[in-house]
Amino acid sequence: MTGSENGSYYITTPIYYVNDKPHIGHAYTTLACDVLARFKRLDGYDVKFLTGTDEHGQKVETSAEKAGIDPQTFTDQVSQNFRDLTKTCNYSNDDFIRTTEDRHKKACQKLWQVLEDKGFIYLGSYAGWYAVRDEAFYTETELTKNADGKRIAPTGAEVEWVEEPSYFFKLSAFEDELLALYENDPSFVGPDSRRNEVISFVKGGLRDLSVSRTTFNWGVQVPGNDDHIMYVWLDALTNYLTAVGYPDESATEYKNFWPADLHMVGKDILRFHAIYWPAFLMAADLPLPKRIFAHGWWTNEGQKISKSVGNVIDPNALIEEYGLDQVRYFMMREVPFGKDGDYSKQAMISRMNGDLANDIGNLAQRVLSMVFKNCEGKIPEHGDFTDADKELLDSVTALHDKLRNDFDKQSFHRGLESVWNVISAANKYVDEQAPWTLKKTDLARMGTVLYVLTETIRQIAILLQPVMPESMETMLNQLNLPADARTFSDLKIALSTGVEIDKPQGVFPRYIEEEGA
Ligand code: MSP
Repeated sequence: MTGSENGSYYITTPIYYVNDKPHIGHAYTTLACDVLARFKRLDGYDVKFLTGTDEHGQKVETSAEKAGIDPQTFTDQVSQNFRDLTKTCNYSNDDFIRTTEDRHKKACQKLWQVLEDKGFIYLGSYAGWYAVRDEAFYTETELTKNADGKRIAPTGAEVEWVEEPSYFFKLSAFEDELLALYENDPSFVGPDSRRNEVISFVKGGLRDLSVSRTTFNWGVQVPGNDDHIMYVWLDALTNYLTAVGYPDESATEYKNFWPADLHMVGKDILRFHAIYWPAFLMAADLPLPKRIFAHGWWTNEGQKISKSVGNVIDPNALIEEYGLDQVRYFMMREVPFGKDGDYSKQAMISRMNGDLANDIGNLAQRVLSMVFKNCEGKIPEHGDFTDADKELLDSVTALHDKLRNDFDKQSFHRGLESVWNVISAANKYVDEQAPWTLKKTDLARMGTVLYVLTETIRQIAILLQPVMPESMETMLNQLNLPADARTFSDLKIALSTGVEIDKPQGVFPRYIEEEGA
């Protein structure tokens, strides 16, 4: 199957600030998108999966100054770390956008022009609080004071007083339209708890948004006024349009992929995506994305992750210690997607040794070893299926729809839980059917049992490709399943008998803790 019989699917990650090295939070958002992008491709969609880096703004300019280099050289270096991470984590993104690229500046300036021409941008002056860390404006009432008497935003970021000429976007004009949007399309923001937060924020009243700055230079110039650069969030959000060819609305990519199907974000940046972004698009008369989903945050062994505490988790180090697919599986399975969750070494090892080495690893290893040794290394013929055989086969066949349903709601953990229920059932079936005993008493029945199990493994391995692409490839290679027979439409085409399999090798090693570690 080659692609787009189900239409197109456009999924995006936030674009990451290049003020620092990538950490687990960045890896997490992109991983969730990668899993969905791979799932949709296997399900027959023409997919565009976009990630990239957010390279303008005061925060990046200050970080470059601290590093003693000009902002462009600085962003070139740090952005490379994010591109490297896409390789290390085996992300399948189709594009990597950088906001310093010309294609992006062109898109931003065009969008600005449209907003201005339609009367939604006006010149005024801003006097208020700004948090450079969040690149966000705050009202006095949102702030608290810390122990040193400094004013702090709800995110914990320090704010500073800013007073400068500024263009404003008429955000206040969109209150009713936004509320109608959330009301009429309840799936526009997920999960529901976050949707309610967005609704109450908008109900609290929206003030016009300052969308330009004059006290530093690192940004996209406002068309027609060289003294102003665009507010970094207006610049950054536009990336989702740039990447499909905007402002050329007749571009093939634009026609195929806009509006986006899903903007995946962390909970901290939902306000920008669920309020500002649709308001900009409404003002410009452009179609709105279909859904915005906010995931939760990781803590490390129960503690908030922060540079000052020194407990930032480096995804590269995790992968080196436990293996790439182990880390990918852990992140998608451990925490209900959408909720905050905790990383702990114990939890990581328990998933790795329990779910992977014991459950799926052992199942594949013992079944394929029996096929290899007792069936002349070939997938055996089968006789009539018993009720027990049918029960297992039916449960694996039901997984595709279940996963699709759960993944469409971004409930990755739930989908994986269903897969593991079938894996447990398969392990129980092995014990109950005892093919090692049948070897002495009923070879034909042994063949049927091993066929049922191998077919179960084939389907599970096909379905788990989005989460663990390399390991599942190894498993499917052991079955000698042709590379073009591994999409979800192939699930229905029963495993062929008589095919030689390779000598099975364990796919998921156990993690052995060193003494005293
Ligand atoms: N540049 C903006 C996004 C612009 S999108 C138009 C930005 N960048 S960021 O580098 O700060 O990226 C943050 C992403 O990483 C967010 O989705 C955020 O939620 C996620 N995480 C940062 N720390 C995190 C954890 N501790 N846990 C999980 N995700 C976290 O915001």
